[in-house]
Amino acid sequence: MKLALFASGNGSNVQAIVEAVKIGTLQAEIVGLVCDNPTAFVIERAQNAGIETFVLSPEQCANKQVWEEQVVTFLQEKGTELVVLAGFMRIVGPTLLEAFPQRITNIHPSLLPNFPGKSGIQDAFDAKVSKTGVTIHWVDAGVDTGPIICQETLNIDPNWTLEQLETRIHAIEHRLYPETLQQIIETFNKGVDS
Ligand code: GRF
Repeated sequence: MKLALFASGNGSNVQAIVEAVKIGTLQAEIVGLVCDNPTAFVIERAQNAGIETFVLSPEQCANKQVWEEQVVTFLQEKGTELVVLAGFMRIVGPTLLEAFPQRITNIHPSLLPNFPGKSGIQDAFDAKVSKTGVTIHWVDAGVDTGPIICQETLNIDPNWTLEQLETRIHAIEHRLYPETLQQIIETFNKGVDS
C-alpha cells in the first residue's frame, strides 16, 4: 500500500514509520512527505531517508483550498492510497477529505475524546488525571473527532514531570502507529482478496 505522510514539526513519528518500513514490520511504500512548515526538522529526516518531500505552507497560497488542491495533485501523482497524519498540526479541509474518503489516519497523544487539540499531553498533565494515552483514529471534518481505530492507556505516576510524561507518550506512539498501520493494511488487503 502506498502511504503519504503528513507532518509539521519534529517528525519523530514519521521516523518511526520510516524505520518500520525499512525493517519490514510495516509492509508499505512511503511515496512522499507533505509538510506545511518549511522550517520543520521532519523535512531533513525525510530527505535523509530518500523520501520525496512536498513542502508548502497554506500561507504561501491564496487560501487553504488552493493549498489542499495542490496537495491532492501531489498525492494523486504519487498514487497515494492512504494518507497518514503524523504530527500534522492543521485541520483537514473538505478538498482533502473528499479526495481520500475514509483514507486519512491521525495519531493524537491523549485518550480521545479527552484532551483534543494541539496540546493533549500538557492538558492531561495539567488536569492531573490518573490515566492518559494515545489514540489513532480516522480523520473527519472535526478536530480529533473521527472514528477511533485504537487506543492505548498509560497510567500516570503523580511524581512524573511533564517531560517524563511526554517521553512515555512518544514511546507508545512510535510503537503503536506502525503496528496499527500494518493492521489497517492487512484489513484492506483482506477486503480486496475476498
Ligand atoms: C505527536 O505527539 C502526535 O501525536 C501529535 O503531535 C506530536 C508530533 O510529534 N499529533 P513528532 O513531530 O512526530 O515528533
